[in-house]
Amino acid sequence: MSESIYLLAIESSCDETSAAVLCNDRVLSNIIATQKVHEKYGGVVPELASRAHQQHIVPVVQQALNEAEVTSSQLQAIAYTQGPGLMGALLVGSSFAKSMSLALDIPAIPVHHMRAHIMAHFIRNTAEQEVPQFPFMCLTVSGGHTQLVLVHSPLEMQVVGETIDDAAGEALDKAAKVMGLPYPGGPHVDRLSVEGDPHKYTFTTPRIDGFNYSFSGLKTSLLYFLREQNERDKTFIERELHSICASYQHVVTEYLLQKLESAAMHYNISQVALAGGVSANSALRKKLNVLCEKNGWKAFIPPMSYCTDNAAMIGISGYHQFLAGHTGLLSDVPKASWPL
Ligand code: KG4
Ligand code: ZN
Repeated sequence: MSESIYLLAIESSCDETSAAVLCNDRVLSNIIATQKVHEKYGGVVPELASRAHQQHIVPVVQQALNEAEVTSSQLQAIAYTQGPGLMGALLVGSSFAKSMSLALDIPAIPVHHMRAHIMAHFIRNTAEQEVPQFPFMCLTVSGGHTQLVLVHSPLEMQVVGETIDDAAGEALDKAAKVMGLPYPGGPHVDRLSVEGDPHKYTFTTPRIDGFNYSFSGLKTSLLYFLREQNERDKTFIERELHSICASYQHVVTEYLLQKLESAAMHYNISQVALAGGVSANSALRKKLNVLCEKNGWKAFIPPMSYCTDNAAMIGISGYHQFLAGHTGLLSDVPKASWPL
């Protein structure tokens, strides 16, 4: 029988302070403290994020250990987000994790946040749960990133396409902002789209060669469209909100999946996955299943709790790094930007 490895994981790259405890690839607890302080500013305020992480980190770690019924003396390693993310926010989680690892005399494992979103597919909470087979293609879509990643192994990932400007989440959040919706707008666009007509308004799909994306033109075309309509009729956005959201979300999701389909075909891949905050989008999830059925592919869609930022995904990445002997040093420092 193989040994049980208990690992604590900490995520603090943006506006979620999260801690998780894993036993091998099983999640025993995953505590997330979402920072509400940013809502009134319409976006994350870095200085406020760092302060909130400072307030949350101790109780969140304590709660994760309590819920998992694991004591700190049972831990074999502490994984933490080294980047990419907000520097002040990363400093809180990384300093805490390294100090705790020093006190317990166990390794600290630096984890790449975007790799961790992909690795969330390898959390195995039930024995029957299927995980992707290597190599597979992952569409990673979050507030800061949009990438097509060919995943060769837990430690070997190749970016085959990415956005040349805004991320898909950013395109949804900015669109939501111009329609007067709260931050982050992605989930509101998703919710409002349910009762809208996705074909009522058309926005031109951006044209970019290869497997790269561009979202800035799409966002600008929505802005001009709304401005024009608003000049004619001040009640337009309010009256048509559901269909504007549905139509815009339709273009964003179709565009994301068109490139995913071409990339999977090009690399002859039949297992495709979604990762990152935007993978919580109900239209994207449904459409990926339809796409995979059409092509005879297998779709991997993360459970909702592992789509947006969480420490469980940092834990599963840390676990695979630990197995491979990829632990870190106390001299490791956070990286605000860090290529995959
Ligand atoms: O991965 P994540 O939690 O943080 C980053 O690493 O960026 O992703 C956050 C992004 C935001 O842009 C948010 O609007 C988007 O994910 N998001 C959604 C949904 N839930 C979160 N976008 C569309 N539909 C959703 N249901
Ligand atoms: Zn993220």
